[in-house]
Amino acid sequence: MDRSVDLFVPGRVCLFGEHSDWAGAYRRFNSNILPGRVIIAGTNQGIHARVRPRKDRFVYHASLPDGRRERVDLPMSRDALLKTAREGGFFSYAAGVAYHIRTFYEVEGIEIDNYRTDMPVKKGLSSSAALCVLVARAFNRVYDLKLTIRAEMEAAYQGEILTPSRCGRMDQGCAFGQVPVMMTFDGDLLHTTRLPVGAHFHLLIADLKGKKDTIRILADLNRAYPFPEEECDHAVHAYLGGINADLVARAAEALKSGDAPTLGKLMTEAQEAFDKHLVPACPTELTAHKLHAALADPRVQELTYGGKGVGSQGDGCVQFVARNAAARAELAQHLTRTMGMECFELDLAPPELVRKAVIPAAGFGTRMFPATKAVKKELFPVVTPDGQCKPILLTIVEEALNSGIEEVAIIVRAGDEATYEQLFRAPLAPEHFNKLPERARRSLAELADLGRRVTFIPQPEQLGFGHAVFCARDWVGKEPFLLLLGDHIYASNTEEPCARQLLNAFKTGGMTSVVAVYLAAGTEVQHYGTVTGSWIDEAHSLLNIREFAEKPSIDYARSNLTTEGLPPDTFVCVYGQYVLTPAIFEILERQIQADQRQAGEIQLTTALDCLRREEGVLAFLVQGEHFDTGLPESYLRSLVRVYERRRTGEAP
Ligand code: UTP
Repeated sequence: MDRSVDLFVPGRVCLFGEHSDWAGAYRRFNSNILPGRVIIAGTNQGIHARVRPRKDRFVYHASLPDGRRERVDLPMSRDALLKTAREGGFFSYAAGVAYHIRTFYEVEGIEIDNYRTDMPVKKGLSSSAALCVLVARAFNRVYDLKLTIRAEMEAAYQGEILTPSRCGRMDQGCAFGQVPVMMTFDGDLLHTTRLPVGAHFHLLIADLKGKKDTIRILADLNRAYPFPEEECDHAVHAYLGGINADLVARAAEALKSGDAPTLGKLMTEAQEAFDKHLVPACPTELTAHKLHAALADPRVQELTYGGKGVGSQGDGCVQFVARNAAARAELAQHLTRTMGMECFELDLAPPELVRKAVIPAAGFGTRMFPATKAVKKELFPVVTPDGQCKPILLTIVEEALNSGIEEVAIIVRAGDEATYEQLFRAPLAPEHFNKLPERARRSLAELADLGRRVTFIPQPEQLGFGHAVFCARDWVGKEPFLLLLGDHIYASNTEEPCARQLLNAFKTGGMTSVVAVYLAAGTEVQHYGTVTGSWIDEAHSLLNIREFAEKPSIDYARSNLTTEGLPPDTFVCVYGQYVLTPAIFEILERQIQADQRQAGEIQLTTALDCLRREEGVLAFLVQGEHFDTGLPESYLRSLVRVYERRRTGEAP
């Protein structure tokens, strides 16, 4: 049995409370000191790896950020691991954690292929701690050690302190992933709590490209501990104690209520208090001219709600709460252009309600015959606006993943799995790989990445679209899911992909199933699913559906399917994207058992109409264009339009 597992561990950034971690540890000596409080968050970037058991060896393949690959291969013995850990250097961290695990648990060896690292190293994002967490988690998952996240953090910490480099206990917080976590440091005790996030926060971290001496900063501030003597020591205690605890509590509240302006203002307030209380203790390092120049820049202030230093502070990195996604992009450009800074985005967002997407691609494609005798229509090529030639299906998988979906299932004709494996997973022969230009090699790596999140589910018989959806029942389980047609291309007119717009509508609509729709001329309705109902919002973008009709005649549509507020002879037609509750599977099951078909097939529309009666279904007017590639002329038009949208400025 293949026991390989995919892992991702992000870096971490300290949003609030820097230095209060070690200050809180001094409670062991002075009980008047308040516990330290920090809020950390996992970064968008991190370490990606595939791991599997390997008898008696510890093998670690590393991808360095500059693209180089290096490898260590050691016997899985405590002596060898400890020696490598103590020697220092890149592999010492991994060896240190492996030593710790080997000492405390019954494990054999492991092979870790860290195939991608997109996290900057030595930028205060704790890349070494992320690596240590990765190794602890790799053993945990491969040998099912049943370690909690907290225990993985502990193993990572114990491993890292065996190396010559030093780390704090805050660093391993990356083990929680891309969620904010509050950590409380009370003497030797460490508590961790995940913090809820009420809205999408757009943060930006920028490397100030300055100098800072962390050892000096720590030495100077530690001089105030455990017992403050001079006035300046009392100021350090005041800030790292009560002032910080209050700021952290208010920041946790702002995160929870989704209040970005307040979170930004709190960062500015924290920086001001930091400057007042801590700079006098270490003026050479903490005065930080570059940091303050960036924070005071008028354009920066226009684009953000506020900001502060990162980590030990000084001229290391700065973080901002941007006003929105577009402002963040502009901020990154501005900082890079005017101050030569390197920027990294950090997103804090509420957990996704919809994690899975289903893409049926098992149809025969009668209307595209005879081409479909040789190639599945979902694999026909399309030229994307960036000038690449891609199978249509790939653009649909990208649409799902770019909208925040974590896993995708593609419904394929039974027996066709190998064809799809070939596209998403099969490695390229070296003689072909060597011919590829750089851009194509990057596409290949992206494809492999994407392939890890794709599953193929066979549809034994082609009994229709509804039947294809039903085949995903066990894989989806009891969650709402996104459904995308396998032969459509979706092009958004806004910054957000069409599927993301629909997922947002699912939230706005209170988690009622929602079908994406567009406005179509009367002449089109005979080809598409058509709906009508009543608008439930002032903007007329959400419609409570009263009736579904599959490919109605124009006469039927004119008599029964008109919708209030639309121009004459304009109808609401189905776009080819859906977010559905799992109740749809029970309905489809009943339909299949009763062999209830329309035009010879188990139709989704029939089930949707039943879902509407049982739970209600909404329609959402997407801001975008969809292209049906399942008909010859429509395919031809799609090819031209998809490519031209960018050139004509219609695409964002
Ligand atoms: P279509 O309605 O376009 O049907 O399917 P089709 O069979 O593919 O094409 P024609 O009508 O014969 O020309 C909509 C989506 O549902 C999938 C198709 O692959 C397409 O992505 N589908 C359809 C299945 O997966 N299984 C089926 O039995 C039918």
